[in-house]
Amino acid sequence: MYLAIPKEDINNESRVAATPGTVKELISAGLDVYVETEAGSKSYISDKEYEEAGANIIGSGNEILSQADIIIKVLPPSVEQVSQIKPNAIVISLCQTTRELDIVKAMRDRSLTSLSMHLVPRTTLAQKMDALSSQANIAGYKAVLMAASKLSVYMPLLMTAAGTIRPAKVLILGAGVAGLQAIATAKRLGAHVEAFDVRPVVKEQVESLGAKFIEVDSSGDEGVGEGGYAKETSDDYKQRQQQLIHEHISKADVVITTALIPGKPAPILIPTSMVDAMKPGSIVMDLASENGGNCELTQKDEVIDYNGVTIDGTSNIPGTMPVHASELYAKNITALLTYMIKDGQLDLDLEDEIISGSMYTHNGEITHEQTKDALTG
Ligand code: NAI
Repeated sequence: MYLAIPKEDINNESRVAATPGTVKELISAGLDVYVETEAGSKSYISDKEYEEAGANIIGSGNEILSQADIIIKVLPPSVEQVSQIKPNAIVISLCQTTRELDIVKAMRDRSLTSLSMHLVPRTTLAQKMDALSSQANIAGYKAVLMAASKLSVYMPLLMTAAGTIRPAKVLILGAGVAGLQAIATAKRLGAHVEAFDVRPVVKEQVESLGAKFIEVDSSGDEGVGEGGYAKETSDDYKQRQQQLIHEHISKADVVITTALIPGKPAPILIPTSMVDAMKPGSIVMDLASENGGNCELTQKDEVIDYNGVTIDGTSNIPGTMPVHASELYAKNITALLTYMIKDGQLDLDLEDEIISGSMYTHNGEITHEQTKDALTG
């Protein structure tokens, strides 16, 4: 079977879906691996390294898409690229299926079987396929470093002959995978860290990393939705949450926001009135910018200055660390693909919860309910 790894040629994506290490694994699983020339260049992987791992290097152009039985990518192919893919081929990428509806429709109309790394169930068995976690970890870590390098104050407490420097105050909104990594990184830099999340269950995790958990008084499971993810909260809760965040944000030097609700726009946690209360020189790193942002003023992929407060809406932070982002993503996608291959043949078991859970188009139909609803709704 012909497996293609095309070059990521949209949105200046620096990551790639395979490394020489995963190419070897894919070949051992029985696949013929074709890599588009320069596919790994932005992740510092040369064509020669792929070749030495056993891949065939193929020139740029449509051939790689039109020949492939299976395509693995970081970003989903564009609508134009979908039209060049062989019908019934399998495409695996990081598609936000409830938002990238044009691509979903194109995949359906082309009768492609498409799977999204965004949809892989968060089960123990699928942990090694969890690209959301591997990439969010990078985003959380790097966001702290980006903020620290822009900050005009020290992160740690310093006792110097000239006086004592107080540690910077870092506030993390959303303590999922990215938020917890941001807490750990900010603590390692010596900052004073506080965190907030709608899911009370994260309190223990936040505290175990040495940060202070700030809580809204509520029934306890107000923000807890299906599968342990967050869900939208009541208006009353939102109001109390805003008051609480307001108190803490006015003292913060860095605010890192990571709050997301699967399949929905990101909740606005920092309205403009709250930014007005922030200290000049402080920084908001909005990791939810891809989904609209947690700060009302965030502009995707822009860094803005609002009365001395920097609001950074860089959306693809994992792409700023392409070597490890690609290494981990390639391992995640290879784990999913090899899970579907038995004795060198593709075994698309539609009863399997990982395979059916990750799939969104198959045989000319949209198979993922939430995506179907997004299209009709
Ligand atoms: P996410 O990226 O969907 O959301 C990030 C965080 O924002 C979450 O902690 C969420 O509760 C929080 N949030 C949402 N709305 C908010 C609001 N209005 N105010 C404040 N915070 C808000 O979540 P992520 O990081 O992908 O993980 C979420 C859950 O999945 C966690 O329970 C995590 O432990 C679980 N998980 C399970 C895994 C497994 O079992 N294999 C692997 C990874 C994550």
